[in-house]
Amino acid sequence: MRIDIITVLPELLKSPFEASILKRSIEKGLVEVHFHNLRDYTDKSYNQIDDYQFGGGAGMVMMIEPIDKCITKLKSQRDYNEIIYMTPDGNTLNQKMANSLSLAENIIILCGHYKGVDQRVRDTLITKEVSIGDYVLSGGELGAAVLCDTIIRLIPGVLNNETSALTDTFQDDLLAPPVYTRPADYKGLKVPEVLLNGNFPKIEKWREEQAYKRTKQLRPDLLEND
Ligand code: ADE
Repeated sequence: MRIDIITVLPELLKSPFEASILKRSIEKGLVEVHFHNLRDYTDKSYNQIDDYQFGGGAGMVMMIEPIDKCITKLKSQRDYNEIIYMTPDGNTLNQKMANSLSLAENIIILCGHYKGVDQRVRDTLITKEVSIGDYVLSGGELGAAVLCDTIIRLIPGVLNNETSALTDTFQDDLLAPPVYTRPADYKGLKVPEVLLNGNFPKIEKWREEQAYKRTKQLRPDLLEND
């Protein structure tokens, strides 16, 4: 998979890709991530990429021209499955969306700033609008990092044990069951007996029951999708 991220703050975005799973996925050649500084696509003085909004009102708006130039250049080089705009009024990211995006070959992610982008960008260049939750970030960069993390960990070969993504919380609309490690008894706090006896069908059944119980208790809304 190739991900092209268009941003005015590439330095804010780089570090999540320089550690742990995302770093390894790039090193293994399973993912390519390219950062494009929007200011490289403007002819205006001071590398201006935003302007006052027509009709008045507080806050600057990102102009269409540099965004169009950048996206047009990328699209002339390869086909993209999705051109995503990170915005608080987009579709809220969930595991289902991450699963489907992890199948893409090439995606572009545009990070918004200020009051957002000129509506004509959204109307003509963007194919999908994504929010990471009902709150407002200073820009789309942190949202883009979250989106990339959710997608990249699902690409086959990225996680050492592929089943560990399949048993994640939210896959199958269930929260994950509780997990334990050694010691089996810590100051009288005991690990459930069923996990210690090596009866794997019984363990599997216990995990399913626990996942259901936990979901019912903490996120009953997930069970309403049935
Ligand atoms: N940009 C600002 N707020 C955002 C959010 N909640 N999700 C995605 N992008 C954003």
